[in-house]
Amino acid sequence: MSAQNNDMKREKFSSGIAVFFATLGSAVGLGNIWKFPYLTGQNGGGAFLFVYLLCILLVGIPVMVSEFYIGRKTRKNAVGAFEALKPGTPWKGIGLMGVAAAYLIMFFYSCVAGWVYSYVFKAIKGDFAGITADTAKAQFGSTVVGPLPPLLWQIIVMAVVSLILISGVKKGIERVTKTLMPVLFILVIICGIRAITLPGAFAGLEFLFRVDFAKITPPVILTALGLAFFKLSLGMGTMMTYASYFTDDNHMMATSAKVALSDTAVSILAGIAIFPAVFSFGMEPGAGPGLLFMTIPLVFSKMMFGNILLIAFFVLTSIAATTAMLSLVEVPVAYMTEEKGISRRNSVLINSFIILLFGTLATFSADKSSLLGGIQFWGRGFFDWFDFISSNILLPVGGLLIVLFVGYFIKKEDIFGELSNRGRLNNGWLVQSFLFLVRFISPLLLLLVFLNSLGILKF
Ligand code: TRP
Repeated sequence: MSAQNNDMKREKFSSGIAVFFATLGSAVGLGNIWKFPYLTGQNGGGAFLFVYLLCILLVGIPVMVSEFYIGRKTRKNAVGAFEALKPGTPWKGIGLMGVAAAYLIMFFYSCVAGWVYSYVFKAIKGDFAGITADTAKAQFGSTVVGPLPPLLWQIIVMAVVSLILISGVKKGIERVTKTLMPVLFILVIICGIRAITLPGAFAGLEFLFRVDFAKITPPVILTALGLAFFKLSLGMGTMMTYASYFTDDNHMMATSAKVALSDTAVSILAGIAIFPAVFSFGMEPGAGPGLLFMTIPLVFSKMMFGNILLIAFFVLTSIAATTAMLSLVEVPVAYMTEEKGISRRNSVLINSFIILLFGTLATFSADKSSLLGGIQFWGRGFFDWFDFISSNILLPVGGLLIVLFVGYFIKKEDIFGELSNRGRLNNGWLVQSFLFLVRFISPLLLLLVFLNSLGILKF
């Protein structure tokens, strides 16, 4: 199969709106509703939020624009893109590392998405009627321990993701994200409003927004940086792959700002929905990965139409998780179809199979009392290792290499050309500021955080 053949068949999103919702669909996911609240809870509330926002601004947006540049310029998958720009060099290793990261993330992401799907089902059955803080904990415990139900849910998740992906970029990814993302937004707002009207909600808001600078420690910074990458789907070629489907006239720097802003708004709204409930019901903000699952059913209990809202909340969280997974799995799928000449359908099936095979390790080790819960290596089980290696190592390292690549190995004229849509946009100063961030600020910050976490540099 010739490359030309592939180019002719390559799909594109159909409009600027479609580009925005697909990209936002990738960014918004379990990261906002599950990870952001529990990490904020474990890492000092407002102080963590503050560092996180800085990471988004100074590192996240520059990395995203860099990925957009590489993707749309080459219109290729994450590996092929580097090969097109620098043929025969090791740079394509970044793309391969991205494919590996996509797998690691999917191993545990599909597991958590399975819990979310199962909560939809439980809510419909009315399992959460008369729930209290204690029974909420017990419910979550019985969900993760399994071993069979969580695995079945994970299989259902992968089946849904596969079906959408097989339908293609426009009929699958574009159609699903454009319909569902606006609904998701409205629902998070409703949940937020409900939560701040709970008795004692103020303590939660204070926890989320009051910055105590003493709590900003190196591990907090590393975690916030990892979350910024995870949140905006950066450092492994997701945004590159999506940008390879962008329209020619998209103002990519504006898209990156809009996506980052909307995504952060969803995270903060999720925080506003969860922390007031945590404090109002006397729960522990540092409860870890179960936080979402133990608080949200409580938020909606004892409230008119509470169960309907609860169902809606978990339906929408499932949507967020599903649209984010589309973008994760699209990375190896685009790679296999374009570089290995495998059909789209078969690539999707092969990848889903690999994800399920290893994803079971995450699912069976998610909780201390699960099947493989006792197996630990240096204090972490499979679930935690998949998460740690991808978010805290592969994504930031990938991000560093990407900014160095775009900042120092691509001609300035090429960057100006692509980011101004061949001179059609009058955004010279924006590109100039982008270049400054990408050359000096983002790599420096990333390096400092790495050297510190390796113990080479102390601050
Ligand atoms: N951003 C998504 C979330 O917050 C997860 C995700 C999708 C992702 N694609 C990614 C994370 C690529 C890292 C890299 O849930």
